[in-house]
Amino acid sequence: MNKIYLWGIIIVAVMLGFTYMTVLGSKGGLNGDIINILTVAAAAALVIITIFVVIKYVRQMQVDTATGELAEESWDGIGEYKNDVPFGWAIIFLGTMVWGMWYFVIGYPVNAFSQIGQYNEEVATLNKKFESKYASITGDRLVEMGESVFLSECVACHGISADGNDGMAANLNQRISAKSVKYVIEHGSKNNLLYAGSEMPNRSGLMNANKNYAPITDAEIDSVASYVANGMTGAGANVFAGVCSSCHGTDGKGIDGVAPNIVEFTPAFVVNVLNNGKKGAIGTMPKFDKLNKKQKEAVGAYVASLSK
Ligand code: HEC
Ligand code: HEC
Repeated sequence: MNKIYLWGIIIVAVMLGFTYMTVLGSKGGLNGDIINILTVAAAAALVIITIFVVIKYVRQMQVDTATGELAEESWDGIGEYKNDVPFGWAIIFLGTMVWGMWYFVIGYPVNAFSQIGQYNEEVATLNKKFESKYASITGDRLVEMGESVFLSECVACHGISADGNDGMAANLNQRISAKSVKYVIEHGSKNNLLYAGSEMPNRSGLMNANKNYAPITDAEIDSVASYVANGMTGAGANVFAGVCSSCHGTDGKGIDGVAPNIVEFTPAFVVNVLNNGKKGAIGTMPKFDKLNKKQKEAVGAYVASLSK
């Protein structure tokens, strides 16, 4: 007998033995359950069929001698027989081409239905409906709407009372902290707070309060930062008047198109932050593309109402 049959029988016996040990040998065993019995029978059948097929092909490699017409090419003495393309293979190949064309043109053409497209269309339609339904909302109701947006979208970072969660995000009950004002003066600001591309120079671009053509000093930065953070009171008024007021206005409430209001939150300012995101002394505030226009306006009104 060829050795390969012997090996086949040994492997089948070993694998069936393992199957027996793991299934029947374990506590519970087959348990008379039809599913268990079928599973073990299938495992045994798989083992036997696999070994049988492997033996068949290994034998074929051992005994087959090739016949047929050799192709003309020869690679270092190694030739190749001329084989017809297998019929089944040719049918499948042509069939795939036809199916591919059908799929591309009729079955699932570009621009056809997709669930993502459907979702986007539905969201766009609902947003439109939402905005027209609530277009006329103003005043207290707008603030209420903003509060509910705030509760679902902003609380995770800003905290339920909008106090910034121990410095994780900005405290929105206060226009700005001394730390943040200081950071802005030292680093400048490029957050599109006013319009796309609005920019505030950093300290080397800010002249000191004495206007003697030297940059703003550390002491001046400290005093103006606490002056702004304290709602424009205390020491530092002279620095603000001398350095900042030309852009931010004498009262700090901003000048249209020149610099933003740094005394109180305005809805438009918050909407800019939501549209562009913001980086600053505390960290990064993400932009909020998923809110629609009215929702942004509403949460802007809510934030503006907090510090009043
Ligand atoms: C040349 C004009 C100019 C001057 C002078 C200037 N700023 Fe600004 N400031 C801006 C602009 C423009 C922005 C908005 C920048 C942006 O879009 O990120 C800004 C932003 C800010 C912000 C950021 C507000 C926020 O919510 O992050 C603070 C704070 C601020 N300025 C404080 C000051 C102080 C204090 C001074 C004086 C020491 C000063 N600025 C001087 C133009 C100016
Ligand atoms: C992933 C956390 C996170 C979420 C969510 C988040 N914020 Fe912020 N937000 C921040 C951080 C951090 C800052 C501070 C950025 C800085 O350093 O100036 C900030 C700053 C702000 C500022 C600017 C304050 C200033 O002084 O200039 C506003 C306004 C604001 N957030 C409003 C909102 C609103 C409204 C929502 C909900 C729609 C929201 N944020 C959701 C993290 C978040």
